Amino acid sequence: MKVAKRTFDAVIVGAGGAGMRAAVTLAESGLKTAVISKVFPTRSHTVAAQGGVSASLGNSEPDHWTWHMYDTVKGSDWLGDQDAIEFMCKQAPQVVVELEHYGMPFDRTDEGKIYQRPFGGHMSNFGEKPVRRACAAADRTGHAMLHALYQRNVRANTQFFVEWLALDLLRAADGRVLGVIAMEMETGEITVFQAKATLFATGGAGRIYYSSTNAFINTGDGVGMAARAGIPLEDMEFWQFHPTGVAGAGVLITEGVRGEGGILRNASGERFMERYAPNAKDLASRDVVSRAMVTEINEGRGCGTAKDHVLLDITHLDADVINKRLPGIREISIQFAGADPIKTPIPVVPTCHYQMGGIPTNYRGEVVAHGEAVAGFYAAGECACASVHGANRLGTNSLLDLLVFGKSSGESMIEFIRGEGAALPEIPQGEIDKALARVNRLDTQKNGADVHETRLAMQRTMQAHAGVFRFKDMLAQGVDKILDIEKQVLQTEIKDKSKTWNTARTEALELENLIEVAKATMISANARTESRGAHVRDDAPDTPEHPNGRDDANWLKHSLWYREGNRLEYKPVNLKPLTVESVALKTRAY
Ligand code: FUM
Repeated sequence: MKVAKRTFDAVIVGAGGAGMRAAVTLAESGLKTAVISKVFPTRSHTVAAQGGVSASLGNSEPDHWTWHMYDTVKGSDWLGDQDAIEFMCKQAPQVVVELEHYGMPFDRTDEGKIYQRPFGGHMSNFGEKPVRRACAAADRTGHAMLHALYQRNVRANTQFFVEWLALDLLRAADGRVLGVIAMEMETGEITVFQAKATLFATGGAGRIYYSSTNAFINTGDGVGMAARAGIPLEDMEFWQFHPTGVAGAGVLITEGVRGEGGILRNASGERFMERYAPNAKDLASRDVVSRAMVTEINEGRGCGTAKDHVLLDITHLDADVINKRLPGIREISIQFAGADPIKTPIPVVPTCHYQMGGIPTNYRGEVVAHGEAVAGFYAAGECACASVHGANRLGTNSLLDLLVFGKSSGESMIEFIRGEGAALPEIPQGEIDKALARVNRLDTQKNGADVHETRLAMQRTMQAHAGVFRFKDMLAQGVDKILDIEKQVLQTEIKDKSKTWNTARTEALELENLIEVAKATMISANARTESRGAHVRDDAPDTPEHPNGRDDANWLKHSLWYREGNRLEYKPVNLKPLTVESVALKTRAY
């Protein structure tokens, strides 16, 4: 089958914060830049980020990028690479001010500076006391950021391909990436996007879990495509459960609520975080707070008739503060929990929120596989693993990651396109045929599995077998179950074979990406026999020899999962920053 072809200097898959930040850099330098997105750019999942973007601006009290770096390394439970973490924290003030100059409508202090609020794990002076570091636009920071970036891209003549689903990465025989093949969702038509440099900025895959703060579009498309193209996936066992998803709905209630003074309470009204994190309390890092909440619930101190959630209380805050700083939260709470937080606490439970692992990159955004950069291939944002989040991400470092690594990827791509990547080889027909075969199977599959039921089985398995607390036996069973579900995924059948606006077709293709993420997660989690950050196992408990269950002697290393043969390899964590001294290993406590 012959397919249409379009040629660009740079193709970016994903129009969230990372993709659009990279596109600004590329398009403003005069390169022909395409952005492919499943949704209209300003509806990308970055829109859901609420509480802020971190940067040590020190607008309300002293702050310094080395304190930010310390908090990020500690938050990561020392699994983050310290060169990338230094790069990110040092760049933070600059990329936030650039965004301000693009027109981002940040809230303001009385002196007119960018408003900053406290957030979990953000401390001054190397862990001493909470600091105001999250730069916020009320509780709609991601929304404001996407609009600022989209407008800047329109000005720079970036070409957007909206409601297109990328299907697969295209590689030359020598491994160079030559673009992607994609399907227009409206018509089912398939086009090759040939490019000198390709960036994946496709976001996370929180939809592998049953309960998630993630949008329905977060199906790990970039991660799935990378895995099928032979790229390993790094640290996929580490998933963040955000402490405050609305109970029963999963919708995010920003940590900014606790930053503004919100308190978590159990059934007897106790501020239980005082027992788990005496210093940081409700502003401890997310994995710590989520585990404390689940422990309260498991030990019978949960709220409601089913005792299955805790309460987030802001009734002591002034109604004007809630209306000014947290208007979206008030609306979400009323709509999804039937509780007006001015008068009634919000019922909350930990909910899957963020994928710490992903496509391995360095801090320049270059994808690194088998020890070297893959020519022409870049990744940034949640789909990538730079690795700055390690075993647990700090709140608001996600929006920062998008800006810093979106920009650095764009700069690396420019260098490649103007240098060794200037010529563009032909795409081998076999690469195109492989991708077409996946789509064509959906036209011929008979007596196959139902897409919705198969996805549900995967989501329930992930939730039960790889949640906030993990159990040795459950992880082992989880691997078997996910591998069984994979067989169904590869035989899903869509009843409606038409191509026009066929969401069943899109969902079947998305499920093939989700299952790659689910396999990588379960297999990597089963293999890592320590507790670290968000990965906490019953057979790796807190002992004097291994505080918090962490085993640095054997496990201070990144996992790399290869799709072929479900093989795992490991590589060392980079403990050496670029210019400053290492943040020395120690036990994590808040
Ligand atoms: O709680 C929040 O506003 C989420 C922020 C984040 O995930 O960084």
